[in-house]
Amino acid sequence: MKKSINGHELEIPNHVAIIMDGNGRWAKKRFLPRNMGHVEGAKTVEQICEDAWDLGIKYLTVYAFSTENWKRPKSEVDALMNLLNKYLVDSIERTSKNNMRVRVIGDKSKLSEDLQANIANLEKASSVNDGLQFTIALNYGSRDEITRAIKNIANDVKAGIVNPEDIDESYISSRLDTFDIPDPDIMIRTSGEERLSNWMLWQLAYAEFYFTDCLWPDFNKDELIKAIEYYNCRDRRYGGVKG
Ligand code: FPP
Repeated sequence: MKKSINGHELEIPNHVAIIMDGNGRWAKKRFLPRNMGHVEGAKTVEQICEDAWDLGIKYLTVYAFSTENWKRPKSEVDALMNLLNKYLVDSIERTSKNNMRVRVIGDKSKLSEDLQANIANLEKASSVNDGLQFTIALNYGSRDEITRAIKNIANDVKAGIVNPEDIDESYISSRLDTFDIPDPDIMIRTSGEERLSNWMLWQLAYAEFYFTDCLWPDFNKDELIKAIEYYNCRDRRYGGVKG
């Protein structure tokens, strides 16, 4: 889809995936506790969902809590879980107003029962919405996702659902957490780090990567437009040659 932004005709990526990094540094710069960075980061999430839809983005996926983030101090993990729980509860009303659908990817079985119930409620309540398709990765790690998919595929073979010779890329995609979401076109990471950190390794095979020094709580619509402008300067060939 093309859209005129700031007087320029830009191709809008269908799916944007974001590593929201820099909450801690944002707080530290202001002599605030790290958790305040996450609180501000959660506000940015709400705003960027509106901005993304406004710009014509259909799918937005964010990395909210990785399989490695359990190693953080218990007080920070608890604060993040409380924040996510609050977000899920508050989003019931918000998503019905703004027509946004929310899904959660990752190993939900390791989350608290409370969180799992709130995820299920929001996923169900928002499932009919056809506006922004918003996905939150929670207790997500790409290697963990691929490992779970391989186990499921092995069970499919055992149950006679699929023959090993019929397992192709699309079958593997269909067993990942993102089975009903198209691959991202662009991956954004904030805060100056240039790593993938176990984020959507399979799905990002052909995505453009955009790194910005902006810390996540400071990320806004103008920053998102800069990423889209960068995306428009790229020459996507998917391994082929330009015709
Ligand atoms: C990385 O910054 C950020 C996280 C591990 C948590 C992301 C969570 C949020 C943005 C808030 C809640 C999310 C939703 C969907 C409501 P960091 O803490 O590693 O920052 P640092 O590298 O500066 O220390």
